Amino acid sequence: MRPLKPLDEGRVQQVVSDLYRCHRDLIGFHWPAETLQAEFHSTEGWGTFHGQRLVNFVLYRVTPVAWEISVVASHPEFWGQGLMRSLLSHIIVIKPADKELWLEVHCENKGAWGLYESLGFCRMGVRANYYPGGGSAWLYTLR
Ligand SMILES: CC(C)(COP(=O)(O)OP(=O)(O)OC[C@H]1O[C@@H](n2cnc3c(N)ncnc32)[C@H](O)[C@@H]1OP(=O)(O)O)[C@@H](O)C(=O)NCCC(=O)NCCS
Repeated sequence: MRPLKPLDEGRVQQVVSDLYRCHRDLIGFHWPAETLQAEFHSTEGWGTFHGQRLVNFVLYRVTPVAWEISVVASHPEFWGQGLMRSLLSHIIVIKPADKELWLEVHCENKGAWGLYESLGFCRMGVRANYYPGGGSAWLYTLR
């Protein structure tokens, strides 16, 4: 794994477009290409690579008190191999001790929030009716 560089944008877009191609029912994951482009260029990120190929990534915004994780995605061919657990574990290790990790996740995205809870994230709040269609967002933090 390594930090993402500006030239990795195409790889990030590829992971997300393959996700949409393979899974039309992703819960609470809405990243049209233009939105993802803007997010990519205003955040830091880390990814796991197999050779030149990006297989998963995390984007986060650095603030004075926290790293706000905005995008968490694994390529569908690599789901269930523990690769996102490894990447998030790495981010937990490298984050500065005086900053928290924050993220939000759709309450019905059990695969994702189950992973976050198993890594030590704590549910700290809820945004009701946050997503189009009325789903709530659960807010998680890790100190
Ligand atoms: C959520 C996501 C990032 C997980 O990536 P992954 O590389 O498959 O995750 P891992 O293989 O590291 O799985 C780690 C744990 O998550 C859990 N998990 C992952 N996906 C799951 C699913 N679809 N259903 C149930 N549990 C799941 C497993 O319990 C696994 O636990 P284990 O390590 O004890 O086996 C991936 O499914 C994805 O990209 N989903 C679409 C985008 C998304 O929903 N992002 C999160 C938005 S907040």
